[in-house]
Amino acid sequence: MKTRITELFGIEHPIIQGGMHFVGLAELAAAVSNAGGLGIITALTQKTPKDLANEIARCKDMTDKPIGVNLTFLPTFSAPPYPEYIDAIVKGGVKIVETAGRSPEAYMPLLKDAGIKVIHKCTSVRHSLKAEKIGCDAVSVDGFECGGHPGEDDIPNMILLPRAAEELTVPFVASGGIGNGQQLAASLALGADGINMGTRFMVTKEAPVHQNVKDAIVKASELDTRLIMRPLRNTERVLNNPAVEKVIEIEREKGANTKIEDIVDLVGGVYPKVMQKGDVDVGAWSCGMVAGLIHDVPSCKELIDRIMGDAEEIIQGRLAKMLSA
Ligand SMILES: Cc1cc2nc3c(=O)[nH]c(=O)nc-3n(C[C@H](O)[C@H](O)[C@H](O)COP(=O)(O)O)c2cc1C
Repeated sequence: MKTRITELFGIEHPIIQGGMHFVGLAELAAAVSNAGGLGIITALTQKTPKDLANEIARCKDMTDKPIGVNLTFLPTFSAPPYPEYIDAIVKGGVKIVETAGRSPEAYMPLLKDAGIKVIHKCTSVRHSLKAEKIGCDAVSVDGFECGGHPGEDDIPNMILLPRAAEELTVPFVASGGIGNGQQLAASLALGADGINMGTRFMVTKEAPVHQNVKDAIVKASELDTRLIMRPLRNTERVLNNPAVEKVIEIEREKGANTKIEDIVDLVGGVYPKVMQKGDVDVGAWSCGMVAGLIHDVPSCKELIDRIMGDAEEIIQGRLAKMLSA
């Protein structure tokens, strides 16, 4: 399949693996890229820019295909040394960066001067247009269904994607809630040039996370995610568990006066414990509603081949037959 996204990034299939804290390591990114998609290493999971340089080198030992790096600009007290992380990306020969969180505007000259293609992930049409205006090459449009941070507008992809298609000139991918070929075909029909998946790629053989995490998602239904940190305007969609219920209870009690300090033990620093040790109930961790569509743990190649095969069958078979009938 050829779309503006496969052309832009030089990849075989229009499928991107979004950056994921403590999940987007070299093994997963290489497996996705080797399967013809675009694998992405998550920069800030690496403690230092030097660690990121090592992770990029490790990934490049496992694949010759294009890979990307995710740079997340989050509201933190002390900002990580982004220019040094970008230096590691440039010196590592990576040509694609997925930005997310805040606008990448301040870093665009650094990235563009190094010949890097930037895909900015955001949750609204207005932020997508801003990304286009500041020179991003593509946008990842993340709907309300998504695992992680859906923003505060609560617009699902059935509306958000065609609205993006009305306004954007640069190519965009559909992100959030996607896990199968029907949804790829639907995303293309709604105007997107491909898809970005997080949660679905977490439940693959190569995802370097504890089996308990994969089992928890397979077991979960589409009803099992919750939104937390809404009073902080930093809403996150997470898999429900006793720690999340506690967060919700605190937020209900404190309302608009909730402070990060009230919940920090339940939301901060939990990723290594969850992803590496398999302590899935220790705190809140991102997971999308697509959990309801995840029933197995395939390899990245099996998953991508299945998605492409199903999408092609829907477009050429099911939909074409409706027209010719
Ligand atoms: C466990 C997990 C961790 C994530 N961490 C990040 C991150 O560090 N930076 C980022 O930009 N997006 C992050 N995301 C969001 C994904 O890149 C992607 O946009 C999102 O998962 C898409 O929604 P989906 O899960 O429904 O596919 C994370 C998602 C998950 C599930």
